[in-house]
Amino acid sequence: MSSSTITKRASNRKKDAPSQIIREGSVEYQTKLQIGHTKTCSCGPTHINCLPAKEWLKSQLGVWRFTFESRDIRDKQVHPATFPIALSKKVIELFTHQGELVLDPFVGSGTTLVAANDLNRNAVGFDLQKKYVDLCASRIKQSEIFTTARQVAIQDDARNIPAYLEPGTIKLIWTSPPYANLLNRPRKNKSRRDRDNGQLGKVEQYSQDPRDLGTMALDEYSQSMGDIFESLLPLLHPKAHCVINVPDMWWENQRITIHVSLIQELRKRGFELRNIIIWDRTNIVNQIGIFGWPSNYITMGVTFEYLLDFWRPPRDQDNHQRTTD
Ligand SMILES: C[S@@+](CC[C@H](N)C(=O)[O-])C[C@H]1O[C@@H](n2cnc3c(N)ncnc32)[C@H](O)[C@@H]1O
Repeated sequence: MSSSTITKRASNRKKDAPSQIIREGSVEYQTKLQIGHTKTCSCGPTHINCLPAKEWLKSQLGVWRFTFESRDIRDKQVHPATFPIALSKKVIELFTHQGELVLDPFVGSGTTLVAANDLNRNAVGFDLQKKYVDLCASRIKQSEIFTTARQVAIQDDARNIPAYLEPGTIKLIWTSPPYANLLNRPRKNKSRRDRDNGQLGKVEQYSQDPRDLGTMALDEYSQSMGDIFESLLPLLHPKAHCVINVPDMWWENQRITIHVSLIQELRKRGFELRNIIIWDRTNIVNQIGIFGWPSNYITMGVTFEYLLDFWRPPRDQDNHQRTTD
């Protein structure tokens, strides 16, 4: 198995560079990232994953819970917003077969890549920050098991992804994007019992790069997410899923419904919403303080998040196949 890190400037225009134009006589070819995307298991042609019926049955529950394992990153100084490897594995197992290709457009610390490595899926992740791309590479290296699949982290803006990948090759987009500018402000720690826990007053945002979606207020953020995901839609197989993890947020005592904005935006851009799953985080939050009492009832944002499951709508011939299966 091989894994690699690419910074756009560093390993410039070699094997993994996006869209080089190659000329042979009068013929022009465009080359893309060399990574596997076809299934290597022997599951039947109508199966959407490798899960046996018992596992499928358990996955039908609309509320999911996970615990962290020792490989998970929980130190906010390493990365401010990670999700558990177990969550990532569940999504990948539900919507892909072994050997298929997973894309994480906002890969952060690389949890998606670690999970893909565990499950023998090919995966590619993008992040603006070199420090996170380097972190991805070291995590993949640490968790390498014998697998024929490859996981790659690339330092680039998610807006440039179509230059790297062939249309129709991605079986799953799975990501936790920035949550608009939720983190781009000094922490108040209002919901914590120990408010001065070392994080109080700190801004735990990834960067102040103007391309970073974590610097944007909701309207600009939704528009940018829409632009990015519209450009990713042709890269997906028809009926391939796109799962996005987001919470809502509170600002000046108003609920900012990021999940509603994203559903509306992605529907406008051609995605179809299939499921909303709640990630119940009550088992992994601790030291909750009381707030709002006795006059203002507010559920604690950290106790659950949304997993918005879209897909690329089937083409007419896929619908026909479905009715004749
Ligand atoms: C919520 S974090 C992802 C965390 C990841 N799920 C994990 O487990 O570590 C979002 C990431 O998106 C990156 N990001 C923000 N804007 C971006 C852009 N325009 N293109 C690529 N990455 C971007 C940030 O640097 C950050 O690491």
